[in-house]
Amino acid sequence: MSIRYFFRFVAVAAVFSAATLPLCAQDKFSFVQQPYLQNLGETEVTILWETNSPSLGWVEIAPDDGSHIYACARQRFYDSEFGTRRIGKLHKVTLTGLKPATTYKYRIVSKEVVDTTAGNATFYTGHVATSYKKPLSFKTLGDEPSEFQFTVMNDIHQDSARFSTLAEAGNVDKAAFVVFNGDMVSSMNTDTTITKCFLNYTSSFSGEKPFYIGRGNHETRGQYAGTFMDYFPSPTGMPYYAFEYGDAFFIVLDSGEDKPDGDVEYYDRAEFSKYREQEAVWLKTVVESPEFKNAKYRIVFVHMPPVAEKSSWYGCLEGNRLFVPILNNVGIDLMLCGHTHKYGYHPASGDANVFPIIVNGNKTVAVVSVKEESLNVEILDLEGKKVKIHTFKR
Ligand SMILES: [Fe+2]
Repeated sequence: MSIRYFFRFVAVAAVFSAATLPLCAQDKFSFVQQPYLQNLGETEVTILWETNSPSLGWVEIAPDDGSHIYACARQRFYDSEFGTRRIGKLHKVTLTGLKPATTYKYRIVSKEVVDTTAGNATFYTGHVATSYKKPLSFKTLGDEPSEFQFTVMNDIHQDSARFSTLAEAGNVDKAAFVVFNGDMVSSMNTDTTITKCFLNYTSSFSGEKPFYIGRGNHETRGQYAGTFMDYFPSPTGMPYYAFEYGDAFFIVLDSGEDKPDGDVEYYDRAEFSKYREQEAVWLKTVVESPEFKNAKYRIVFVHMPPVAEKSSWYGCLEGNRLFVPILNNVGIDLMLCGHTHKYGYHPASGDANVFPIIVNGNKTVAVVSVKEESLNVEILDLEGKKVKIHTFKR
């Protein structure tokens, strides 16, 4: 897929003494992550991006009325907290007070901060901004169609070529949103893993089309695993959350690690048993909510299939013990999983899961079409060939 968005680097001629130059003075101030949308709602959206050195950041929005973004001073939303505009590399700005079902144009701007040692006095060099010639745009929720499709990818393990091929095979261009169902990276080993090895791949669409991510067990690993929520803020503040689109209600669960917490591989740091118990308490409240009960379709994403089989590992067995009893008999239409790296299908069964579970492989992409009368799931391979088709009538 081609990258459709470009950014403009604006250099400002300025001479600074060596003492004020940042560590990476040789590198041009730039974006290392283009903007991406999170938590798109009827009246708000969160936009994140990252620069290669500390900066101030803000978003400028304009109505989609044909006027040039330079026609007048546009409304700004700064990256700020507790009354102070933040200095940092990763920027997160929540735009509030938006109108439902409305398209907005926007651009992001970051202004490099070179030195803060003089107290409140900061010194700036240049700034970078997304193109003013072709601003990005997003549309708030509020008039979603009754029929739509979404694309699900998982277990990419930071393979950019496979990501691009599957995104194209999975018709991301036509999707209302994209779901990443875990293990997009293999380990959060460095502070750039999540951007260079995953988020950069999404930049062809994620500035205008929202995505939702479910944490895989591999995103819990590595020195920087604790930064996951910095990049993927959720409505609950947790890696598990729910969202709505049209008449459908979606639950994104976090299945944690696959082996028992005490396994030598986790270096005494895993505490997923207790965490999943807490998550189950939250899940009980979700299935009791009016939004869940009133939805036409109810779909669950969870990285590890919560299936109890002879060959199942601890994490899957715990998901089966904790999550499945809550989800049984509340009208779940479909559960989508990953983790095993191969296709799997666990039909609705009175003895176990009373809803169908589809496991998408690591070299396939799932396209789910939400129709008036049915949910249609197509599993497509790297060539875009349909390898499995499921239809679930209402
Ligand atoms: Fe996994």
